[in-house]
Amino acid sequence: MAKQIILYFLLAGLSLSRASTVQADRSNRILEGDIAYEGQFPYAVSIQMLGPPQTTNTRGHKCSGALITLKDVVTSAVCLYDFTQTVPVPINLTQYRVFAGAILLTNDTPDRTRTISDYVIHPQYTGPPAYVNNIAVIILTMPFSSAIVKPIALPATNFAPADFTLCNVVGWGAYNRSTAYLASTQLRYSTKYVYNQDLCTRIFNSIDTSLNILPSMICAASYDLRTSNCFGDDGNTLVCNGVLTGVLSVGHNCELSNYPEIYTTLSTTWIQTISGAGQTFSHSVFTMITMFSLVQIYLSS
Ligand SMILES: *[C@@H]1O[C@H](CO)[C@@H](O)[C@H](O)[C@H]1NC(C)=O
Ligand SMILES: *[C@@H]1O[C@H](CO)[C@@H](O)[C@H](O)[C@H]1NC(C)=O
Repeated sequence: MAKQIILYFLLAGLSLSRASTVQADRSNRILEGDIAYEGQFPYAVSIQMLGPPQTTNTRGHKCSGALITLKDVVTSAVCLYDFTQTVPVPINLTQYRVFAGAILLTNDTPDRTRTISDYVIHPQYTGPPAYVNNIAVIILTMPFSSAIVKPIALPATNFAPADFTLCNVVGWGAYNRSTAYLASTQLRYSTKYVYNQDLCTRIFNSIDTSLNILPSMICAASYDLRTSNCFGDDGNTLVCNGVLTGVLSVGHNCELSNYPEIYTTLSTTWIQTISGAGQTFSHSVFTMITMFSLVQIYLSS
């Protein structure tokens, strides 16, 4: 235990010294995060609820995500559930839309919004409290124009950015703790560094929680180790070395926390299996891959 604490502070020290070299980046979380400029993150999308929420400046923003093709969005699986019910139920996709192609949610011209045709939740998604494989793909009814968006590259198999790699986290989640329920009309970003996986595992294993860090997860933290996530941050994308590295899985309910944030990785998930082949995502492809994986698991056991 003592050893663990020493390690933790050693890492904290390292991260602070790293921070001093990046003074320009004042803020380090979406809460109080920096405002993105137009075109800075051309893959960023906002998943929005239709109906009355659309009359607000934040347009019913529920979650963020990233385009991996012109019509496929990666986000967290939790974003496809309605948690206002006693038992979370999958969302009714006809009541949601996807916005992309601008930083301002109010800039929602028809070319910047798309309806959802389908979504696929990772077949081994466990839900709370373990949040294993908290990742999903949303398929749009019509692709966005390449003139206004640019999909982000998927990582190579087993892509594992080195500890302390600086990454961007992007999203429209809440930006002011005193109005935590309010998403940001403007796209915001912050810089995080990749947290040592073993240390992250030990930290989460040492506390009384059902969360275990698995290889399908990657931890990231702010320079000052005061990480935070708030409403609307689910599905925030972690981009390291120019590739989509993770989607926010577990944050800290708007509180500042010493614990790192947990992102679902893309490199070891099922998305990787079908990336790069230029296929159109569809249920049948996913079902085929899932069946194939199950057969492999069965044969090898
Ligand atoms: C989904 O929403 C639409 C439009 O509000 C409604 O007509 C439909 O019945 C809903 N489907 C389910 C399964 O609730
Ligand atoms: C957050 O909201 C409070 C109260 O409305 C305001 O005084 C403060 O300036 C806001 N902070 C930021 C960073 O916008």
